Amino acid sequence: VERYRDLNAAEKMNPFAEQEAWEDHQIGKATMKFGSKDKKHDDYEFVFENQIEFIQDEVMKGDNYDGEPYGDSPDESVAKSAFEKLQADRKTLPVYPYREKLLEAVNEHQVLVIVGETGSGKTTQIPQYLHEAGYTKRGKIGCTQPRRVAAMSVSARVSQEMGVKLGHEVGYSIRFEDCTSEKTVIKYMTDGMLLREFLGEPDLSSYSVVMVDEAHERTLSTDILFGLVKDIARFRPDLKLLISSATLDAEKFSDYFDSAPIFIVPGRRFPVEINYTKAPEADYLDAAIVTALQIHVTQPPGDGDILVFLTGQEEIETAEEILKHRTRGLGTKIAELIICPIYANLPTELQAKIFERTPEGARKVVLATNIAETSLTIDGIKYVIDPGFVKMKSYSPRTGMESLLITPISKASANQRAGRSGRTGPGKCFRLYTSHNYYNDLEDNTVPEIQRTNLANVVLSLKSLGIHDLVNFDFMDPPPEASLLKALELLFALSALNKKGELTKVGRKMAEFPLDPMLSKMIVASDKYKCSDEIISIAAMLSIGSSIFYRPKDKQVHADNARMNFHMGNVGDHIALLKVYSSWKETNFSTQWCYENYIQVRSMKRARDIRDQLEGLLERVEIEMMSNPGDLEAIRKAITSGYFPHCSRLQKNGSYRTVKHPQTVHIHPSSGLAQVLPRWVVYHELVLTTKEYMRQVSELKPEWLIEIAPHFYQLKDVEDTGSKKMPRGEGLASDIQR
Ligand code: CDP
Ligand code: MG
Repeated sequence: VERYRDLNAAEKMNPFAEQEAWEDHQIGKATMKFGSKDKKHDDYEFVFENQIEFIQDEVMKGDNYDGEPYGDSPDESVAKSAFEKLQADRKTLPVYPYREKLLEAVNEHQVLVIVGETGSGKTTQIPQYLHEAGYTKRGKIGCTQPRRVAAMSVSARVSQEMGVKLGHEVGYSIRFEDCTSEKTVIKYMTDGMLLREFLGEPDLSSYSVVMVDEAHERTLSTDILFGLVKDIARFRPDLKLLISSATLDAEKFSDYFDSAPIFIVPGRRFPVEINYTKAPEADYLDAAIVTALQIHVTQPPGDGDILVFLTGQEEIETAEEILKHRTRGLGTKIAELIICPIYANLPTELQAKIFERTPEGARKVVLATNIAETSLTIDGIKYVIDPGFVKMKSYSPRTGMESLLITPISKASANQRAGRSGRTGPGKCFRLYTSHNYYNDLEDNTVPEIQRTNLANVVLSLKSLGIHDLVNFDFMDPPPEASLLKALELLFALSALNKKGELTKVGRKMAEFPLDPMLSKMIVASDKYKCSDEIISIAAMLSIGSSIFYRPKDKQVHADNARMNFHMGNVGDHIALLKVYSSWKETNFSTQWCYENYIQVRSMKRARDIRDQLEGLLERVEIEMMSNPGDLEAIRKAITSGYFPHCSRLQKNGSYRTVKHPQTVHIHPSSGLAQVLPRWVVYHELVLTTKEYMRQVSELKPEWLIEIAPHFYQLKDVEDTGSKKMPRGEGLASDIQR
């Protein structure tokens, strides 16, 4: 479930995320579909040679602007302990004056919708207020977040404010990482994790309060949670339900929850000046960098930090590099520019950096994904640079294919982004698009994820919760029927559901794994092929979510050679991943070995953690741990048992064609098979960049498809029409048949 939500999923799978310039590297080149005047900036020797001109359009009104920025607590001269300072800070938050009223409202109503500007203290304060008021005597307070980073960073903050160790009274739980204990009373978690908790505890009896936070994000898991918590609230009158949102469309939430009252926390909003470019920018990444430098150089240091919204990790890393390079040339007269990246996969130890106060005389530029739109509050931002794009998932129920696309944001998003600059004083927002674009081309609201995603995972979870009638499930906005059908079809193909749509024994086992159904099926199938040991290593390696191989720019040849060493035999990337893992294990998990082989240590450690958890789950579903390292065919058959719907065949021109819903695809250049081009392959996922690429690819024998999935493939599907000797007409005929 988690994976589905993460907009960075595809780039996380990119083994070379840390390097520039693959063939499909497409950074910053998207233009809004409404066309572009080519204003490409090639190379900046000096910032001012290519200024970007902005036109001020409007000022978003502030609520209670009195001309003075809100500062820190006034008595800074009095030395305070860090803890006292935190306590004082808590009292300056907009939600604080409403503490008693809020507690009263929670006391009186079972369900409450809470609306408040980002940064007003909803996420960090409300669970603490409820804890202080005694709610945790009856059970835990659970607070869901759409994003992992938010769950981690907010829980860290709250544990500081409460003066406890993270993981004790205050903890977090995200997929593959549980930082809670017996003691935990305030638990931050991803919405996907709470969804999983329903499987073990269908009435959430260990909770006294559930706060579905960031409800406006409308992630798939949040939408499903709505239906589930609404249902249990009916037979658990003692459970308090809070739905909190940063936007004002709270009516919709209220209506859905049987006219639940809406509690509004008035925000402090300062006026924000909105500026647009005169003409569309052809290269938004470059325009963003130039704008950031323009601000930095022309505005006095100490006057405020800059927040730039980019679409993903690679783009952020590129921007970071370019900014570093260009500021180096600025000389000592210009203040220091501290660059802080933040994206879903940023290592924990680096996340804290964005919350640190900017030192005197310096300026901070935060390069963020839309994680900073509402999930994370960063203090001290005065300037927002908004290129107007987000990486968003789209899904075709016809082909069952999901892709991450760089897409224009909605007006609602644009306004949230602008609002980030007016939190502690008047702000400025620079939109790297024209006002005409804003008014005429942007949609009002973002389409909820449930309407643009693959539902297989969620359908499997709902089925295992005993919810069979999916069409009549109480969705706030129902998913397209075609997506539901497609999900049912896939689960049936994977033998997770029977013909009547009921969960099978296989399906029940699959649901235990917090993974995509195809990945869980691969694990469940490994029982039959007696290679569960190898398969969970592969599954763990596929689930890391960050790059495995390290490819420094100055040592690319060495790195590539090291990588190809794991590709002996040319049977594919899955086996290569297994080799990486088992070789590392043989060295007793040596860090040195990782360095020597250009492997990311951090990724490997994560793989080990995930693998440990999968091992525990194997036991739970009674799959014996069996090792069969020599039988690569058995291992590949187990993989195929999960991934047979992802199968494609080589074409004469060197491209591939997917077998089921014919579409042209290519092997990703990072694959070990990119030069080998086997006739038949099975792939882990498709990513669309400049082309539709298959990532993590293994060779396959077509007869396996008939053996493993006779209900899915027929002989005519796998007849080798790709052969050169085949008369042309015949190949075509079978293509048409399909
Ligand atoms: O949830 P909401 O957007 O209403 O606000 P919040 O996340 O509770 O943040 C309230 C305040 O806590 C922010 O203004 C930040 O100053 C602070 N905070 C922080 O310093 N570090 C974090 N990791 C989270 C919040
Ligand atoms: Mg929040």
